[in-house]
Amino acid sequence: MDIKQTPQDHPSDFVRVYEVGPRDGLQNEELFIRTEDKLELIEALLSAGLPMVEATSFVHPRWIPALADADQIAQHFAQHPLAERVTALVPNERGLSRAIEAQSLEIAVFMSATETHNKRNINKTRDETYRAFEPVFASCEDRGVRVRAYVSAVWGCPYEGSVDPKAGAEVASRLLKMGAYEVSLGDTIGVGNPRQTKAIIEEVSAEIPLQRIALHMHDTWGRALANCLAGLEMGVRCFDSSIGGLGGCPYAPGASGNLATEDLVAMLHEMGYETGIDWDHLISAGRLAQRLLGRPLPSRALQASIASLSNKSS
Ligand code: HMG
Ligand code: MG
Repeated sequence: MDIKQTPQDHPSDFVRVYEVGPRDGLQNEELFIRTEDKLELIEALLSAGLPMVEATSFVHPRWIPALADADQIAQHFAQHPLAERVTALVPNERGLSRAIEAQSLEIAVFMSATETHNKRNINKTRDETYRAFEPVFASCEDRGVRVRAYVSAVWGCPYEGSVDPKAGAEVASRLLKMGAYEVSLGDTIGVGNPRQTKAIIEEVSAEIPLQRIALHMHDTWGRALANCLAGLEMGVRCFDSSIGGLGGCPYAPGASGNLATEDLVAMLHEMGYETGIDWDHLISAGRLAQRLLGRPLPSRALQASIASLSNKSS
């Protein structure tokens, strides 16, 4: 996969926006969105030009009932012309065998910077998780499946409170060495601030190249976009976001939605960055997400765009 590598002192003007709404967004919904509706939303996101869409999650359906149709969702994209842009979360070997059955070309593994969140989220200690990931990485390497990795609770933990940036750096560096092509650092409960973000990126980029770092900011306290801007200014060029601002982690109490894709893309485009995303198609996908969820979604740019469209037509 081309992840637009450029020397660290000349970061490119291209920013990869990694869409997590169909997975991180919908995993938190009580309402079960019908499989055909999820597929329509994922198709809309791909049509908008999102370079990567995390479509579902091969976790245990008892843990995440909203994504119990993961196998059907992933299988739909097996022969799709944009199959290489579709990915899914995998927690263990069982999840990987489901992804392989669905012919997934890319997966994402995940673990936490803190022991307690890791245990609550995937029922394993961090050491047990590394051991469980070894056969997952080995099997992916054999089959040519790309692996992305998340590190959760880097900015703060719902159980342990503040987190030393070194904890995130250590997990990120280990997962990269195990074979991940990129590590996405998660502010799972959305408590970070830009100064802290800079300190975390400094710590992590001492261990791994900036081009291998993505930011995954939840917007609980309204600072996700500011944190991404801090990362952007330091040279990070991949950000995770969720259509409409959907999202949260059911095993991180208090976590709200991800940074909204529309808010991120609006800022990037206004600043002159390229994303390859078509704004009108993106807004159509946001409107579709609202319709499926049956409520207005938190994205400010989505709401502003809808308001300006209705002003024009009145
Ligand atoms: P466990 O109960 O410890 O699993 O759950 P186990 O290995 O003991 O197996 C128990 C049973 O589950 C067995 O079945 C397994 O086959 C089955 P039985 O023999 O009893 O019939 N099993 C599975 N079935 C389907 N798919 C699987 C699977 N694995 C085992 N993959 C497990 C361990 C990891 C499965 C569970 O803890 C789990 O599903 N956790 C997922 C939690 C989750 O999805 N959290 C949200 C995503 S993470 C997130 O949102 C953060 C992120 O966005 C970044 C950020 O914001 O920071 C990524
Ligand atoms: Mg998340």
